[in-house]
Amino acid sequence: MNAVASPSGHRRTALRPMREHDLAEVMRIEVRAYPFPWTLGIFRDCLRAGYPAWVLQSDLEMIGYGVLSVAAGEAHLLNVCIEPGHQGRGHGRRLLRGLERSARGQGARRVFLEVRPSNPAAIALYQDEGFNEIGRRPRYYPAHNGREDAIVMAKELVLEEWA
Ligand SMILES: CC(C)(COP(=O)(O)OP(=O)(O)OC[C@H]1O[C@@H](n2cnc3c(N)ncnc32)[C@H](O)[C@@H]1OP(=O)(O)O)[C@@H](O)C(=O)NCCC(=O)NCCS
Repeated sequence: MNAVASPSGHRRTALRPMREHDLAEVMRIEVRAYPFPWTLGIFRDCLRAGYPAWVLQSDLEMIGYGVLSVAAGEAHLLNVCIEPGHQGRGHGRRLLRGLERSARGQGARRVFLEVRPSNPAAIALYQDEGFNEIGRRPRYYPAHNGREDAIVMAKELVLEEWA
């Protein structure tokens, strides 16, 4: 169990590994949180491929989850999600920091992610946590009016250890 600091006034939360029996609840959150959600099969494939996947859990319920892949010293954040009713309370920041710890623990020195330009909350969180835009992938995401670019962001983890 990867304990997560719980500031006063917040319900106690902890990160734990995601298991296949979590996927019904993960999907319940996923379809509420994203206009173009992952499918159950994508989550299942990630777990079966051994990608690190974490659930942010309170004593009562699942608050959110994240999925990453780590190879050759590089981590990719593939999914970072907080249940809509729990957003805006610091859980996303704690989840992101937990995912970075997981990546660092597996030897990653740099973390990459993609985010929609139309997702200002996520962009603000990533920038605040030290991610910088390093490029764009044109027409990367499906969108209601066609396709949407992805902003590619990266963060060096090694430098943070020296800070
Ligand atoms: C993006 C997401 C993970 C953020 O989680 P959260 O728990 O709502 O965010 P937090 O409460 O931890 O906020 C952390 C920071 O994010 C930014 N932020 C969060 N919500 C924001 C909003 N509505 N508008 C602007 N910035 C926002 C702020 O910088 C905030 O810091 P502050 O509280 O000091 O101002 C969450 O909104 C989410 O799951 N969204 C749906 C799924 C998604 O889009 N995932 C990202 C895919 S790339």
